[in-house]
Amino acid sequence: MSIREIKHLDSVRLSKRGNSVVIIDQTRLPNETVYLDLKDPEDLYEAIHQLRVRGAPAIGIFAGYALYCLALQSTAEDYPAFMEEVRTQAAYLNSSRPTAVNLSWALKRMVAKAEASAGKPKTEILQDLKEECIAIHNEDIAMCKAIAEYGLTLIKDGDGILTHCNAGPLATSRYGTALGPILLGYERGMDFHVFVDETRPLLQGARLTSYELEEAGVDITLICDNMASIVMSKGWVQACFVGCDRVAANGDTANKIGTSGVAILAKYYDIPFYVLGPTSTIDLATPTGADIEIELRDPNEIKEKWYEKPMVLPQTRCYNPAFDVTPHELIDAIVTDRGICRAPYTESLKALFE
Ligand code: MRU
Repeated sequence: MSIREIKHLDSVRLSKRGNSVVIIDQTRLPNETVYLDLKDPEDLYEAIHQLRVRGAPAIGIFAGYALYCLALQSTAEDYPAFMEEVRTQAAYLNSSRPTAVNLSWALKRMVAKAEASAGKPKTEILQDLKEECIAIHNEDIAMCKAIAEYGLTLIKDGDGILTHCNAGPLATSRYGTALGPILLGYERGMDFHVFVDETRPLLQGARLTSYELEEAGVDITLICDNMASIVMSKGWVQACFVGCDRVAANGDTANKIGTSGVAILAKYYDIPFYVLGPTSTIDLATPTGADIEIELRDPNEIKEKWYEKPMVLPQTRCYNPAFDVTPHELIDAIVTDRGICRAPYTESLKALFE
């Protein structure tokens, strides 16, 4: 796959028949490229919960298409019954993962669209829902491009960049968020060296970011998460670029577990630490990071998932939070599709929506 193909990769899309959602199963990458065609509620829920589709923006796009496909299956005979079904399905999908705000953001948008279509015939309501989920997707494509342009102003040719987890085309649409400036700069003839954190326990960095950047032709080095400090200490990193799952009103940012550790190291080594994300990931209704619900996942993801045999005694207790919160004091800038925000974030983030 070339940089062109990576950039045009649709990790989520509506099927050609228009009644199901097609995704690349991200749990099978990089060894197998398997497409799933989903329309049953349990399969749609499972795809989010098991990270077959993952990354905050991709989850939002998926949820929009999913709710539309579920609405198509409705046999409700009147509008109140139809809305009852739509709200129930939205609540069900929303319960699949708690941290990335894009999930509830997209579902609320779809429900609001169906509400605004009250009084129309069912076929028209469904058409409105279809247009809304396609709009969510198209807006994300435009937002990723804008983030890539803004982010590119923060780095220069030859820089070393460290990234954690995966915030590329698979997690979003087209350019990605944290990887957007790198892909855009590379396309324009710039060279970067990217240090990719493996990202325990689910290896999004190793399996997905390495895959995307290798396929695009970008120069990368994969490191284990606990190697970030030595790489920074050698002067090889000029900036850290990470994505986000929810940015609170004060700039505190939830992202993949381990992100806050990278930010602490970056502060120690005096390396700028940048969060990149679309405005759909900024949640002004959540005052601070302490108000963000952090998803806890199955301990077996740590104990045995990637091993032939379990690497821990069965009785050993594990703590497996999927995200952590980086305090806003450690973030040099939050790069959005509407511009670059700096401290004080309570003001700069609010200004984005005025
Ligand atoms: O658990 P995941 O893989 O969905 O977590 C993803 C991340 O933490 C990403 O960095 C974030 O969603 C941003 S994707 C543009």
